[in-house]
Amino acid sequence: MCGIVGIASKRQDVENDILNTLANLEYRGYDSAGIAVLKNNNILCKKVVGKINDLRNLVSDVDLSSSIGIGHTRWATHGAVNTLNAHPHFTENIALVHNGIIENYDEIKSELQKEGYVFKTETDTEAILFLIDKYISKGLSPLDSVINSLKHVVGAFALAIIFKNYNDLMIGVKKGAPLVVGKSDNHVVIASDVTSISKIVDDVIYLKDENIVQIKSSEIELFDTKGNPIKAEFTKVQKSLSNDINKNGYSHYMLKEISEQPMVIENLNSNYNNIIEIINEQKLDIYKKIIIVACGTSYYAGLVAKYWFEKFTTIDCMVYTASEFCYLKKRLNKDYLVICISQSGETADTLASLKYSKSLGVKTIGIVNVPKSSIDNEADYCFYTFAGPEIGVASTKCFTAQLTVLLKFILGLAEINNETDHDLISKISYELSSINDKINEVLSKQSLIAELAEYCAKFKNAIYLGRQNAYPIALEGALKIKEISYIHAEGYSAGELKHGPLALVDENMLVVVIANSTSEVYLKTISNMENVIARNGNVIIISDKKLDIKNVKQFVMPSIIDDLTPILYAIPVQLLAFYVAKEKGTDIDKPRNLAKSVTVE
Ligand code: M6R
Repeated sequence: MCGIVGIASKRQDVENDILNTLANLEYRGYDSAGIAVLKNNNILCKKVVGKINDLRNLVSDVDLSSSIGIGHTRWATHGAVNTLNAHPHFTENIALVHNGIIENYDEIKSELQKEGYVFKTETDTEAILFLIDKYISKGLSPLDSVINSLKHVVGAFALAIIFKNYNDLMIGVKKGAPLVVGKSDNHVVIASDVTSISKIVDDVIYLKDENIVQIKSSEIELFDTKGNPIKAEFTKVQKSLSNDINKNGYSHYMLKEISEQPMVIENLNSNYNNIIEIINEQKLDIYKKIIIVACGTSYYAGLVAKYWFEKFTTIDCMVYTASEFCYLKKRLNKDYLVICISQSGETADTLASLKYSKSLGVKTIGIVNVPKSSIDNEADYCFYTFAGPEIGVASTKCFTAQLTVLLKFILGLAEINNETDHDLISKISYELSSINDKINEVLSKQSLIAELAEYCAKFKNAIYLGRQNAYPIALEGALKIKEISYIHAEGYSAGELKHGPLALVDENMLVVVIANSTSEVYLKTISNMENVIARNGNVIIISDKKLDIKNVKQFVMPSIIDDLTPILYAIPVQLLAFYVAKEKGTDIDKPRNLAKSVTVE
């Protein structure tokens, strides 16, 4: 999704820090970028379709030196990818950058057109641009112009605005999309996330929804949307964040993040060895109905959790994709606990589901990787996944981190409620504490996966199969390969194959089978695989049991208790997707059309 930055400085070189911050925001996903500065009290704006390096090239011989400016990475929502639609947008009076959506832009546009405003772009952004411009033209102060404009606007968004003739004034707005304000001795900075500015600021304010920030001569003032002052609360910036966003010698963030999984799981094993205390303190053991809401990979983590809830507890667990759940209008009551899983903590659909649940008085908990994110702020309690920044658009370490937290939580509930044999819980907990040996074994054999990937890369279509707790891993494997290698892939529960998808299988179909031999349905999965072989499908099996079947390729896994299949078997499916994408030469960390943090519904 779009990334925004605004910098007001005591120095005259904000353009460099704006461009560097935009580079740090690249991971969010974007298709065009731009920068605007105030130069001799006039707005000077440059935009490109393409990457930040293209923007750097464009401005290399333009004098953008200034003490104030804004920048933007655009992920197109309204209007084609072109420089006209790219941000910043500007008038005679103001320039602004915008992340999120102005839902009623059409209505505002019609009104403003009647007043003579001529819309040139296909964006929703011009609606708020011209609204603010209108109030400035009427003589209102910049702050009052923003406050008055917000009264007309519906949607979830964040803004950074600079004003002609005010070379020391910048205003930011947070309303449903992320925005932070940072400061150092030289700079005050507005940005979409703290990681992107951690090198250039020392303290940060995590803005709350409906906060307006005014930066005037380096002074930071906060207001609500009625203009009432609000006290600013600063937090020290963790300087290590800027190291976490380096590739540390890896060719890609995705590979780095896949490789970090043992460290992440080790951290979680120690950070949550008090899970029973947390459950007791938060009174989470009283619920018999749990709803999990999430999107994409986080949703698949929820699907795995459902298997664990059903096996280890008597809790009824329902899992929904957030975009469906928030409009289902399910009749929730205080008997339900709603768990929202989100790496970014900003996913608009998940956040909307959380707000809906809260509005019915339901207790909500989050499982997030980004502290102080919107879901962290809104939920009654949050479990952090402590995985460090995840930059690759394809989620990897956060998936296994979510699974680890969920399993520890579910085993904790089972233990408190005395619903599962204590020895089984101890065995799983013990195996979880030593799973890193097995993950490291898989990571050490990635050259074998790279060889398989060479073979897989020639296929246009793939089916991933798994049963029981391996079924969500089949879904996750298919999502991973489609999002970064653009091979069309679908995940099915292996038992469903014969009910339709088998019709697709012929000598052109790749079929990846996930089958841990310690599963009670292992032999059934193998039978389903035989159906594929009989129809000339091209099979790769990921399993701990060495098979010798003609034309079937295999990646041999370490042996593991079936309950931990989802965590361990996630690793080879991630690696397979990575190496297939590498083979195909795609932009692995920033796949086309996708965004890391999906802040629009
Ligand atoms: O930040 P979230 O976990 O809420 O994001 C949810 C999905 O957008 C995300 O998992 C997406 O599916 C990933 N690109 C998958 O790799």
